[in-house]
Amino acid sequence: MTDRFTMDEPQPRLLDETGQGVIGTPMDRPDGPQKVSGTAGYTADHPAPEGMAHGYLVRATIARGKVLKIDREGAMGLEGVLDVITDPRMTRNPAQGMAGEAPVQPADAVHYHGQPIALVVASTFEAARDAAQRLSVEYETEDAAVSPGNTRDTEVDDPETAGDFDAAWDSSEVTVDLNYTTPSHAAAAMEPHAAVAQWNGDAVELRGSLQMVRFNKKELADSLGIDASQVRILSPFVGGGFGSKLGIGPEAVAAAIASQKLGRPVRVVMTRQNVFDMILRRSETAQHVRLGATRDGRITAISHDDRVSNLDEEGFAEPVSQASQFLYGADGLSFTQTVARIAATPAGSVRAPGEAVGMVAFEAAIDELADKLGMDPLDLRLKNLPEKHPMDGRPYSARRLADCLTEGAELFGWDARWEAGSRREGDWLIGMGMSSAARSNVLVKSAARVRLTGDRAIVETDMTDIGTGSYAILNQIAAEMLGLSPDRVEVRLGDSDLPGASGSGGSFGASSAGSATFLAAKKIRAEIARKIGCSEEALTLQKGRARGDNREADLSGLVTEEIVAEAEIEGGKTAESHFSSGFGAHFAEVAVNEWTGEVRVRRMLGVMSMGRILNEKTARSQALGGMIWGIGTALTEDMQSDSRDGHVVTRDLANYHVPSHADVPGDMQVVFLEERDDWANPIQTKGIGELGISGAGAAVINAISHASGHRIYDIPALPDRVISSFGVK
Ligand code: MOS
Repeated sequence: MTDRFTMDEPQPRLLDETGQGVIGTPMDRPDGPQKVSGTAGYTADHPAPEGMAHGYLVRATIARGKVLKIDREGAMGLEGVLDVITDPRMTRNPAQGMAGEAPVQPADAVHYHGQPIALVVASTFEAARDAAQRLSVEYETEDAAVSPGNTRDTEVDDPETAGDFDAAWDSSEVTVDLNYTTPSHAAAAMEPHAAVAQWNGDAVELRGSLQMVRFNKKELADSLGIDASQVRILSPFVGGGFGSKLGIGPEAVAAAIASQKLGRPVRVVMTRQNVFDMILRRSETAQHVRLGATRDGRITAISHDDRVSNLDEEGFAEPVSQASQFLYGADGLSFTQTVARIAATPAGSVRAPGEAVGMVAFEAAIDELADKLGMDPLDLRLKNLPEKHPMDGRPYSARRLADCLTEGAELFGWDARWEAGSRREGDWLIGMGMSSAARSNVLVKSAARVRLTGDRAIVETDMTDIGTGSYAILNQIAAEMLGLSPDRVEVRLGDSDLPGASGSGGSFGASSAGSATFLAAKKIRAEIARKIGCSEEALTLQKGRARGDNREADLSGLVTEEIVAEAEIEGGKTAESHFSSGFGAHFAEVAVNEWTGEVRVRRMLGVMSMGRILNEKTARSQALGGMIWGIGTALTEDMQSDSRDGHVVTRDLANYHVPSHADVPGDMQVVFLEERDDWANPIQTKGIGELGISGAGAAVINAISHASGHRIYDIPALPDRVISSFGVK
């Protein structure tokens, strides 16, 4: 029986009392040896099932229109080709995490250049790819806008407001009114998307690279028109997601359809180019930020309007102003959004959707306001931290933003900051910049099962580990709660037959699946207390031994028959009464070449408070990774499409520039200011994954402005843009 728990009130901080000493420690990943030895079962590396065929997705090469004819016969004549499949269920938009909401498209409809229109199946991957590339397709083309620059077809959402922005703006003594752009981004996960499908009667088993198995199971069932009970998904190892694997993708749907049709297992592996063409991107943005203040630096007016893009039927819109709505207070706040409907690869969640690009503009505008006020940007931020959520009046659950700002400034040596544009080393101009960091925190319904026999425990949940460390932290939670050494705990993940958890997305995985694991283990503690005859409160479990009320026993002798406990958690009243978010502060020092416009990040510091830290090592890696993505946002990442037909031009990692080693300074520091978020969940944690990127790019952009004395409004700060920002010399 599953215990159900709703987060309606703060819970005791049990993990601070257990005393096994595992929680929070920088424990190595239990799955590390498998990964470095190449034995971890990533989808495409998994041993091929008997009789497996290979599918390769064919992309549309027009922006919008109709497929008139596919030369199936010609392709069938090529060596090794088994089938060329077109199916309306396959060309459906790969909507992410929105099961049943994406309309099934006619098989012949083309909505964007790169859309999958067919699957070539062959006896080898090479034969399938060769035939797909030689496949002749006839189209009827329609006119389509392929970028927001050439469409007026937009949808206007209701503005979000608090107070009277116009009145506050009109009476502001000092104002800035600024426009920014950011380009489209690719998630750029290291592992390209892959799926292996195999049918057994009317049930399909799909091995895939997916972030949210519980939802993906339903999405695949809906895509195929079958019941969810007929689908099993296996996704034990995922080589990065960054949002691109949140929802079921075309590779999975196509593999399932082909496998059923051919009566044999089918594997579909995307090439890097397929991923850029077919997998959702982050929208480009145009942002308009207006800030008003009194002369002594009290912010009075905040407005952040944005324009993003997506396909016609897609419901997602990059939530650009998300953090702008709760970082600082003002008398009047206003936020609007418009969505340009264009023929381009669908836009969706990519690494901190909203904050990753919204904060670059917003925090750069805050910096510029500080300049105009003649204030230190650190002081301006500290002066304007609101008491409560400025939009809805909720109190913050736990917020150490002020501590992050002041401790960060001290550690970074912010005091030594010089006048903008005044320091040089040879041809290099040197500058320091900073930004607040914020990423809101949520709890998503999650279940987990814990089994204990003697002093061996097993954790089972369909939670995924996308490189983040789920295997490590769920192990640590169970080990801590049951008084076991981590090598006595096994964690089984990524199987839809296991209790359904949140999956990995929106930084909610560790808190959600972790809380479910905690609650299941807590249930086992109650059972052990009963067995030795003490109260639950009196029970101590340490080093495989149970103690309480002057009784004690070794678990190995006490738990001779397996104890199984399952628990499920979901958000409740605390989410309504309090606003929970991770907070932090980023600092960057850069050198800007006066002649080439090249920017070098010389050092970076992130100080973050994000609830209880479950594993100091994996948490640090998450935070560092986010900050590195921030460097990419500020300096290099720039997905380019052809202005005629919208085809993605930067289709590989040679042309789409994520930061490489040479772009990242050796001096990257992360400091955690630990806290307990009592309103978040029973383990007092908050999301970590995306906080590192949120604001990091702004710190770099602000440092560039400080170095050169000139502002950048079109992100990334490519060398030509940096040089032109200098003006004519
Ligand atoms: Mo995240 S962009 O919700 O994987």
